[in-house]
Amino acid sequence: MTFDFKVADITLAEAGRHQIRLAEHEMPGLMSLRAEFGAEQPLKGARIAGSLHMTVQTAVLIETLTALGAEVRWASCNIFSTQDEAAAAVVVGKGTPENPQGVPVFAWKGETLEEYWWTAEQILTWPGADTNPELGPNMILDDGGDATLLLHKGVEFEAAGAVPTATEDDPEEYVLILDLLRRTLAADPQKWTRLAARIEGVTEETTTGVHRLYQLAEQGKLLFPAINVNDSVTKSKFDNKYGIRHSLPDGINRATDVLMGGKVAVVCGYGDVGKGAAEALRGQGSRVIVTEIDPICALQAAMDGYQVARLETVLAQGDIFITTTGNKDVIMAEHMLGMKNKAIVGNIGHFDNEIDIAGLARIPGVKKVEIKPQVHEWVFESGTDSERSIIVLSEGRLLNLGNATGHPSFVMSNSFANQTIAQIELWTKKDQPAGEREYRNQVYVLPKILDEKVARLHLDALGVELTELSKDQADYLDLDVAGPYKPEHYRY
Ligand code: NAI
Repeated sequence: MTFDFKVADITLAEAGRHQIRLAEHEMPGLMSLRAEFGAEQPLKGARIAGSLHMTVQTAVLIETLTALGAEVRWASCNIFSTQDEAAAAVVVGKGTPENPQGVPVFAWKGETLEEYWWTAEQILTWPGADTNPELGPNMILDDGGDATLLLHKGVEFEAAGAVPTATEDDPEEYVLILDLLRRTLAADPQKWTRLAARIEGVTEETTTGVHRLYQLAEQGKLLFPAINVNDSVTKSKFDNKYGIRHSLPDGINRATDVLMGGKVAVVCGYGDVGKGAAEALRGQGSRVIVTEIDPICALQAAMDGYQVARLETVLAQGDIFITTTGNKDVIMAEHMLGMKNKAIVGNIGHFDNEIDIAGLARIPGVKKVEIKPQVHEWVFESGTDSERSIIVLSEGRLLNLGNATGHPSFVMSNSFANQTIAQIELWTKKDQPAGEREYRNQVYVLPKILDEKVARLHLDALGVELTELSKDQADYLDLDVAGPYKPEHYRY
């Protein structure tokens, strides 16, 4: 079978392999799953199309999935997030750069949007599958939902027999999706319908992608079962919070090296990501101001000791502005015009529409200066006495992966252990008799006992001594000694 792939530089594989080796040591969850399930091969027969930041940590995930029997094709879910050496190492696998024997990866740092959607198409287009659908993907592992979106839009337009014409208001990315689907519809009018029919399920990594899945399920349009990995407690309460606490300052430092201590940092949104962001900035000595739309989260921020204000009120005070909302249009061009000279603006939510980069580019007289890749100075009224500028990180895309290397291995071991278990759940239960199917075309979270298992896999590495419940105590609390220890509605 053809081994196609596209990475920046295959000769980086050795450097990538060294980093992967060190990451494995920091990813006890994934390594224990390899030890537990390696012989059993629960993912044998699974052909996973993966769309998730192609980092060193993701390399350990990919190689865990293949160690458990899966075949995989991979793309990144962001144009800036790939670590080229990790991508190269995954492609080479146990082979050499001249004779790669690993996994087909289609990802490099600094893709254009057009290239990005091409890579998304590649992970869903398996060699030989046009003549033998058996060879196509049968599982999706998604982050942000772009692979799932492409498939669902493809099916929708094939059913309609035509792809709609883009309107002026459609974002560039959507126009590119429409172009891609117009091309595939002309070449093969049933491509996506055939493909979707074979997909047994999707496991989704992040808040934004999960939101899209619930929308599809509510409209009755979800084409296969989905596991919401994000809302495993060991994902969102760890990756989104402690991961951000690490990777946000890392991104700001690598991009600007500006001292955060003593500065005023404005964090938009106080969900899991916002909590990690605010804590990190406070830890660096910044005075943090939070903006929120939800009274509960606003009150939490106030009780945690942060000033809570509207963005408009604090524009002139902030030195650093970070969006964490997963919403759109949070920092608009007029906001940026009102900021201090050299204020830093960055997004750590999923999509770039949190920050109005298009509006920024339309400001009369504005000039964009590249300081270095993924760090741009936007100069207002350039060449006049009123010249001022702001610094925008990663062109408004998630800065911890654009300007740095994302979350550290240990926290991603929690997230990716959930991903692996979720893939095993959907794949091994796909053949249950119709009346007994645990997973239908809905969105599910993993059972709490598995969530607790993921946490348990990480305790030894940190020298945690867990107290054991006695049988007597367990009876008193009406629990099983082996868990689960909390009811479903418990919030942690
Ligand atoms: P969340 O739902 O817990 O928090 C988002 C918060 O933003 C909510 O409290 C909401 O009320 C608030 N919000 C919404 N619109 C707002 C507005 N206009 N102004 C102020 N606040 C507003 O979601 P979570 O888990 O914190 O995720 C946030 C985003 O971060 C998502 O897009 C998610 O996919 C992404 N994410 C990014 C990661 C990264 O590595 N960069 C890691 C994990 C998640």
